[in-house]
Amino acid sequence: MATHLLSLGDFSRDHLNELIASGLRLKAEAKAGKRHSQLAGRILGMIFEKPSTRTRVSFEAAMYGLGGQVIYLSGRDTQLARNEPLKDMARVMARYVNGLVVRTYGQEVVEELARYSSVPVINALTDRHHPCQVLSDIMTMIENKGPVEKLHVAWVGDGNNMANSFIQAASVIGFSLTLACPPGYEPDPEILANARKLASQPIVVTNDPAEAVAQADVVNADVWASMGQEEEQTARRRIFRPYQVNTALLTHAKPDAIVLHCLPAHREEEITDEVLEGPQCVAWDQAENKMHIHKAILAAHLA
Ligand code: CP
Ligand code: NVA
Repeated sequence: MATHLLSLGDFSRDHLNELIASGLRLKAEAKAGKRHSQLAGRILGMIFEKPSTRTRVSFEAAMYGLGGQVIYLSGRDTQLARNEPLKDMARVMARYVNGLVVRTYGQEVVEELARYSSVPVINALTDRHHPCQVLSDIMTMIENKGPVEKLHVAWVGDGNNMANSFIQAASVIGFSLTLACPPGYEPDPEILANARKLASQPIVVTNDPAEAVAQADVVNADVWASMGQEEEQTARRRIFRPYQVNTALLTHAKPDAIVLHCLPAHREEEITDEVLEGPQCVAWDQAENKMHIHKAILAAHLA
């Protein structure tokens, strides 16, 4: 049976740790000049209903890097745009390709595709989760700071798809996480409650960014208005202003804390140019690591 990757909460600690270890291994091997061909003869289908730079290109590069090939479809190029049922799309696509990477709005879309697809469906971002991104973020933390179980991780900003995936990762893998979100913009309560049931370390939600960042090893930022929330952008700029990751906020973190941003960034909104371009920011390694972790995901789930 196909092993879909729809949210991090669906997996064991061992599986997530193995994906991250494999991402680190594949990166080291690629840097040493080794060529991979695990997925030679395999085809990956990609269906994206929202824009993407990093996720699209890093999945394509990952698939080619493992010897496979890719067919990319934007949502408007398919019959989904003319209301072909998802269950029909899933069953047809599965006759042509060995796996599907999907970026869309509702989590229920990837769930429905997965229900009917005989090949793995991988979530490349929905309104609710961004699981592959958070795996590359954890890989980046480990590279820079060592075992993640020993780290205190802070999330500053919206309780969005990224925050939800971070909460599930903290629960499954076992690291300490504090999120600071404006009142009314906290993460999904059901995801939080389920994560806390399994968590071995605290998962704290506060409205105070300085509290979240206090003694943090890792500080995470993300956009204030996610894709699909464009009309809320002006209101959110005002509401989220105190949640900017800037030099003053970082004085509360450990002096050697690293700053992550999944990108794209809006300079002088959720993060200052000074911090994004500064020595603590690892966003560019983080972006690179998407390709390595995507290789690990494809090798494990499409094999
Ligand atoms: N971080 C991320 O998912 O970027 P893209 O929207 O460019 O894919
Ligand atoms: N939360 C952001 C992440 C972008 C990679 C969004 O959904 O737009």
